[in-house]
Amino acid sequence: MIPSPGRRINRYYENLQNERERDQASNRPLIDETDVVEFFKHLGFQATVYQEKLLRDKSQFVLARWSRQSGKSFAMAVAVLFNALTRKGFRAAIVAPSKRQSLKMVDRISRLLSRLGRDVLEGPPRKGRLAFRNGSVIEALPNNPDTIRGETLNVVVLDEFAYIEHDKELYDAIIFALSTTNGSFYETSTPGSRDSLFYAMATDDEQFVDFSRHHVSYKDALKPNGPIDPEFLEKIRRQYQTDPGRWKREMEADFADDEDAYLPLDLIESCITEGPETFTQDDAISGRLARTSQFFVGTDLAPKIDLSVVAVIEKIGRDVYLLHETALPTWHSLLRGYGISESLEPET
Ligand SMILES: Nc1ncnc2c1ncn2[C@@H]1O[C@H](COP(=O)(O)OP(=O)(O)OP(=O)(O)O)[C@@H](O)[C@H]1O
Ligand SMILES: [Mg+2]
Repeated sequence: MIPSPGRRINRYYENLQNERERDQASNRPLIDETDVVEFFKHLGFQATVYQEKLLRDKSQFVLARWSRQSGKSFAMAVAVLFNALTRKGFRAAIVAPSKRQSLKMVDRISRLLSRLGRDVLEGPPRKGRLAFRNGSVIEALPNNPDTIRGETLNVVVLDEFAYIEHDKELYDAIIFALSTTNGSFYETSTPGSRDSLFYAMATDDEQFVDFSRHHVSYKDALKPNGPIDPEFLEKIRRQYQTDPGRWKREMEADFADDEDAYLPLDLIESCITEGPETFTQDDAISGRLARTSQFFVGTDLAPKIDLSVVAVIEKIGRDVYLLHETALPTWHSLLRGYGISESLEPET
């Protein structure tokens, strides 16, 4: 049966009304709270002092070097959710060392939604992807620079960044994905190896001057000031008893010696002399330098962050003297500095 013109007009009007309501809803914030710490409370939790400091940080680049179990992932989950609910069309990506971990974080955000007492999602939640009625999206992305490069994002959260593979390539891709929105970058981690971008971002004041850094040791995060349970702490203390470096990294959130280093950093540091006298090529040729002892040359070619170094030492009896030392930013320039042709350069 063909509906009467009157009915058709009514149905048309109803559709128009629904569309208008949906449109209005997408323009309104999906929650009443306008403050992220208040929102934390609304979810049923009290932000710790250091979580509040992080949540209120308005910097574009934020680095959190926090102890295990201090509430890094949770603070990030709340921060991302708050933005998705209050900003129309907000796009957030979460990346972790494995896809399983980033999916877990999105799942955590999804569970927080049940505490809101209202339906804010557009359709049912999908694994690793939450689409909101205001057009915002939170998504778990794989640790794959090519996938991230194709995205336009307002915020990227890197959870446990010190343990993410191909960190440099990934960061380049992220900067690209944030460039059109002038978006924000959050990274949280316990410290890993010193040969990581996280280490450079946490310590290099020149290259990463724009980074706002937050450091939290287990001491700041013990109950009642944070979520770390004294029982958990004692368990971890026993487990790490034979590995003080791990305790320092995981619980004090300080960089320790690299586990795979042949020489402990303390030993190297104890051998350092300020302003040692070194000798030039002319000294050697002119005979100022005794040529009866043993000489050793060592190189350390650094492709990424550190300087490349060549050192010559002289061994006289049991003592070792530094005769010559050159440090250059990359191994390319170092080899060229010594007149070694490109064709001899090793492959990275
Ligand atoms: N402000 C808070 N109030 C209550 N519980 C909290 C708070 N912050 C974190 N927690 C709880 O503390 C525990 C640890 O939090 P979370 O997993 O975020 O820590 P983490 O630093 O990411 O830990 P890990 O080092 O294991 O990745 C979780 O059970 C979390 O729900
Ligand atoms: Mg975590």
